[in-house]
Amino acid sequence: MKKISVIANWKMNPPTKKEAENLFSEAKKAKNKNCELIICPPFPFLYLGKGLSLGAQDCAFQKSGSLTGEVSPHMLKQLSCNYVILGHSERRRTFGESFDMINKKAKAAISSGITPILCVSEETKDELIAIDEIREQIQAITKKISFSKIIIAYEPLFAIGTGNPCPTYLAAKRRVLIKSIISKINQRAKDTPVLYGGSVDEKNCKEYIEEANFQGLLVGSSSLDPKKFKKIVESI
Ligand code: 13P
Repeated sequence: MKKISVIANWKMNPPTKKEAENLFSEAKKAKNKNCELIICPPFPFLYLGKGLSLGAQDCAFQKSGSLTGEVSPHMLKQLSCNYVILGHSERRRTFGESFDMINKKAKAAISSGITPILCVSEETKDELIAIDEIREQIQAITKKISFSKIIIAYEPLFAIGTGNPCPTYLAAKRRVLIKSIISKINQRAKDTPVLYGGSVDEKNCKEYIEEANFQGLLVGSSSLDPKKFKKIVESI
């Protein structure tokens, strides 16, 4: 059986190194042999996560150069970072990342041996527009990328950081839609893991795996609460 991925997106948290050390040591206590745990802390805390599977929250698409503030996938790989979250809606909305940029970042990450976790969001409540929006996003961010080298995370905007999780039936419908879009692009895409993210907590986590059939979870705020996070990992 393929393992369920539980990915912690700490975003720009916690504020101190001491708290980050504590979160890492608590994460190590969360045990589930059916689950692959991946922690995505802010860049400066990556080096504290030895012994855990690590991901970054962004990367540049260039290898090096005069690019103030940027971090390349090549540099991340040297910190034992094997994953990177790309195209999170917070980056697209706050920092103006385009789909083309996300696609370039994903290609650069893959070239450095890092698996991109490509976020697909849904910004409208109109069903037909949402379907087109998801299709266009997937086509743009996965252009000329092998589906065997990526993870897709479905994160509807209304569910991110709101405490308003996506109803399971809708999430399930979207998973099927994403699977059908990617399978039409490439037959081999049927094995690409599709994860759910958005207000996941210790009470709703199981539904997304067991009822909606997602292959994992991208967890934001609940990953900063060690008790909740441990319950999520151990209950799925
Ligand atoms: P929350 O779990 O806080 O809603 O955040 C979800 C998210 O953005 C994960 O990438």
